[in-house]
Amino acid sequence: MKITLAFDVYGTLLDTNGVVTALEKLIGNQAQAFSQTWRDKQLEYSFRRGLMRRYDVFPVCISDALDYSCLFYKTPFTDDEKNKLLHIYSTLPAFDDAVTSLQKLKKSDNHLYAFSNGPIVTIEKLLTTANIRGYFLDIISVDSIKTFKPSPDVYKHFVSTSNAEKENAWLISSNPFDVIGAISTGMKAVWVQRSKEVVFDPWGIEPTITINTLLQLKEIISSYYNE
Ligand code: 2OP
Repeated sequence: MKITLAFDVYGTLLDTNGVVTALEKLIGNQAQAFSQTWRDKQLEYSFRRGLMRRYDVFPVCISDALDYSCLFYKTPFTDDEKNKLLHIYSTLPAFDDAVTSLQKLKKSDNHLYAFSNGPIVTIEKLLTTANIRGYFLDIISVDSIKTFKPSPDVYKHFVSTSNAEKENAWLISSNPFDVIGAISTGMKAVWVQRSKEVVFDPWGIEPTITINTLLQLKEIISSYYNE
């Protein structure tokens, strides 16, 4: 039996709050709020571009969301400051639990993929910089089909591109919209609830499994199959 794991990247493997330290130097105690607005708005822009069929690569959503956040918080960063923040966003750190979890999963015969809104070149750079590229068989990007998560087309694209057995294809994500999107197309999904503050959307569509850290993943997948 082939178990295929699709790892979401931003917010699941890599910490999008990696920019907070740099933001604190610029705007002090507004940094955390700014970082969250930036993340929320980049996702909103991807949803809107998907619905509008006005696709552009995810880094454009990230850059436009940075410009929005500067207007919203009335913090007119210089172009140099923005470029430095965007560089940090292109080299985000892995969460502390990522390497250990991936090492354990790699030893099993699971098929691991990175699966992201980001284009291949962006995700290659992110995973290489975070020293976790080697754990993945490949990177599968929504850029191939020019729309964004949670379009059902992106999950179908993942299953077909990875040649996964659909009943054993799992999304691993900290993003509830992503988990609901994957399950809605028949994939299984593990929700990584990295903070108790994060609320799972009350849509009546629940994660297959919920964990609080990637360190639980290997055992919880094995126990699901009674291995
Ligand atoms: C992803 O990596 C944006 O977290 C989302 O696809």
